[in-house]
Amino acid sequence: MIGIVLIQTVFGIGVGTQQSESHPSLSWQQCSKGGSCTSVSGSIVLDSNWRWTHIPDGTTNCYDGNEWSSDLCPDPTTCSNNCVLEGADYSGTYGISTSGSSAKLGFVTKGSYSTNIGSRVYLLGDESHYKIFDLKNKEFTFTVDDSNLECGLNGALYFVAMDEDGGASRFTLAKPGAKYGTGYCDAQCPHDIKFINGEANVQDWKPSDNDDNAGTGHYGACCTEMDIWEANKYATAYTPHICTENGEYRCEGKSCGDSSDDRYGGVCDKDGCDFNSWRLGNQSFWGPGLIIDTGKPVTVVTQFVTKDGTDSGALSEIRRKYVQGGKTIENTVVKISGIDEVDSITDEFCNQQKQAFGDTNDFEKKGGLSGLGKAFDYGVVLVLSLWDDHDVNMLWLDSVYPTNPAGKAGADRGPCATSSGDPKEVEDKYASASVTFSDIKFGPIDSTY
Ligand SMILES: *[C@@H]1O[C@H](CO)[C@@H](O)[C@H](O)[C@H]1NC(C)=O
Repeated sequence: MIGIVLIQTVFGIGVGTQQSESHPSLSWQQCSKGGSCTSVSGSIVLDSNWRWTHIPDGTTNCYDGNEWSSDLCPDPTTCSNNCVLEGADYSGTYGISTSGSSAKLGFVTKGSYSTNIGSRVYLLGDESHYKIFDLKNKEFTFTVDDSNLECGLNGALYFVAMDEDGGASRFTLAKPGAKYGTGYCDAQCPHDIKFINGEANVQDWKPSDNDDNAGTGHYGACCTEMDIWEANKYATAYTPHICTENGEYRCEGKSCGDSSDDRYGGVCDKDGCDFNSWRLGNQSFWGPGLIIDTGKPVTVVTQFVTKDGTDSGALSEIRRKYVQGGKTIENTVVKISGIDEVDSITDEFCNQQKQAFGDTNDFEKKGGLSGLGKAFDYGVVLVLSLWDDHDVNMLWLDSVYPTNPAGKAGADRGPCATSSGDPKEVEDKYASASVTFSDIKFGPIDSTY
């Protein structure tokens, strides 16, 4: 008899069997010219970073708190081969629930095994693919309830140029794919992503000193990002960020643009070109009891206008309207010396704003609005998230940022105190915070509201 040595070779991250992965359904509407809309039954999936990762036939953690197991995860490939991503108990563990066309993300959720902070979910087209959008010459509309989001919190709705299948076909180790929410990237080239391109980000992993659940690894995950909505009860902004690489790009070193003296040397425009009504001179627009009363839900309309009015033309303008109490409310008009009195994002507005506020114009350098349009042609994925900020306390959205030097042009972005937004305090005081997104509609310009 010939002795056979069985070597079990596993290729890539597996999926766990303790909890089946059942995507909460979320319907949305596809509209056509003239304004008739049909309902599409979709679903959402939780990002893989939030998931329990452990050995296939037991409960031993591959990643615990903010550290990787040194036994199971000595290097990126071994770790991926040793570990599985588990299915999610959406409401029990993560505080995520849907009903019809509405999705609610809770902030702090105390489960039986862990306390979860915030979440990030993606809209699926089918069980193993994200829904891909091309926003050019189109309009994207949703309703948001920000009444339960205090200073320091950010209920975000945005698009990023992730792989449609979460990287499953491009990377042999990335098997769980979109069904398990893999492949996230954005214009900050985040280093806190645990698996990038299917490989565990264990190299140079540094546990965060102020976040019990997070750390940063050697690689970052970069891609173009269109922030349609970043907001809380007191502040809101919409912001395109362009990256020079198509789709998801794993950065290391200089290409990530991490160091403060080489922030603009990476592949992505981290600053973006934001339209924040408060920052642009109107402080009576967005807030509890103001022109848009954030004590109540509001419908947000965003239009992606092309130069020649066709789907294939160059992206030239991003317009915004609001609807509340049956009334359409136009976006605010800029009142800042040095910037034309406009109410939308164009390349010219971005150039003027960068100049007026003395900011580096990386947006133009990385490709401007036509660059964003190219990413739309490539396809982008819808993200909903709720988060607090362990780096700079969300001051860039709702307070004064930078605080030094005092009185810098453009630093005043919202009414929140510069002492607000400390994640420890936010997670303690506003544990029951939540954001609800509903009635997502997509179609030609002027078809969705
Ligand atoms: C703020 O913008 C709204 C909507 O455009 C407008 O009605 C209001 O007059 C503006 N307020 C100020 C102080 O500019």
